[in-house]
Amino acid sequence: AIPGLAGVPPMGWNSWNTFGCRITEQIIRAQADALVSSGLRDAGYKYVIVDDCWAAPQRDASGRLQADPVRFPSGMAALGDYLHQRGLLFGIYSGARDKTCTQFQGTYPGATGSGGHEAIDAQTFAGWGVDYLKYDWCSSDTSHDDQVASFTAMRNALRDTDRRIVFAINPNSGVAGSVPGAEFDWGGTATTTRVTNDVTPAWSTANGSSGYQGIVNIVDAAGPLTARVKPRSFIDPDMLVVGSTGLTPAQQRTQISMWSMMAAPLIAGNDLTNMSQQTLDTLRNTAIIAIDQDSRVVAGAMVDDDPEVWSRAIGEKGLVISLTNRADHARTLSVSLGSIGLVGDASVTGVDAWTGRSFTAQHGELSVPVGVHDTVVLEIR
Ligand code: GLA
Repeated sequence: AIPGLAGVPPMGWNSWNTFGCRITEQIIRAQADALVSSGLRDAGYKYVIVDDCWAAPQRDASGRLQADPVRFPSGMAALGDYLHQRGLLFGIYSGARDKTCTQFQGTYPGATGSGGHEAIDAQTFAGWGVDYLKYDWCSSDTSHDDQVASFTAMRNALRDTDRRIVFAINPNSGVAGSVPGAEFDWGGTATTTRVTNDVTPAWSTANGSSGYQGIVNIVDAAGPLTARVKPRSFIDPDMLVVGSTGLTPAQQRTQISMWSMMAAPLIAGNDLTNMSQQTLDTLRNTAIIAIDQDSRVVAGAMVDDDPEVWSRAIGEKGLVISLTNRADHARTLSVSLGSIGLVGDASVTGVDAWTGRSFTAQHGELSVPVGVHDTVVLEIR
């Protein structure tokens, strides 16, 4: 991990889920403006991450990456200035081998990846004012040694710049049938490490060859890895799909609740210029964000799988419990105080971070009604 950066999980917005390759500087600026006007910047969403397809097909005469002249005619340094003037931070994307992922898939000509160009590309990014690099693995090469060499080379190149740049790696793209980010702990190399395949706006999907995963599939895959989390070293279960029409409001609450229990990056991907009040309220819930951003950075873990209960230590003495209802009908879910380490404590109250409702333990149990696919997050008092 890169010292001095991202003591708590990065928060922001990324272009990929809504726009894919259809990005322009006007689109990115409009999303940045919406981060400010919606209050999301002030709630903590500061990184604006330009994903794949920003680059011109060729490097310049000096071997430097350059912006696509049609999509980003003002250039990337100007975009960085625009973001910094608004109190935002600038994220950009590259690949660890010779291609970015759309180029690897043949869907966009793009520029070459940064493999073999780590030093010059890190200097280019720093010169543009970049604060965050999403660094993808777009190759069918599954060699662990090659991944170590490539990701380490860019980590070192970023360290050698005069900026502190968050290093967000994805070792999984293009690697069928395995998730190297989950198999290996990259915490010494990267600030954040993707540990699942790409999220899709669904509650649950079969984890088939396409590799897309629904929310609960990702919770099941990433949940067992939360012990790796520490300041400047986070597991990344991929972006938020809050605001997608594929999900109910309850399912969206479950996603951001569980990402916060995991101390995961909160990177929105919806169109911020066209979001409902419900989407905004879900992204901007200050109690949920405070859990995610807790400076002690002890990620939560599952206590019980039926009903699904997680606990997370917060601050010096605090405790947060989540209860998720995966059933297709509303249920009352109960957790014994003993299972969350509160034996003998007579007067325990949990306050739901979503509704503000209080629940007082009775007969050694906390019981709460939870809607279909919803999550209640109780701050224990
Ligand atoms: C991979 C990543 C995505 C996105 C695309 C861009 O699939 O997992 O998040 O960056 O590449 O091509």
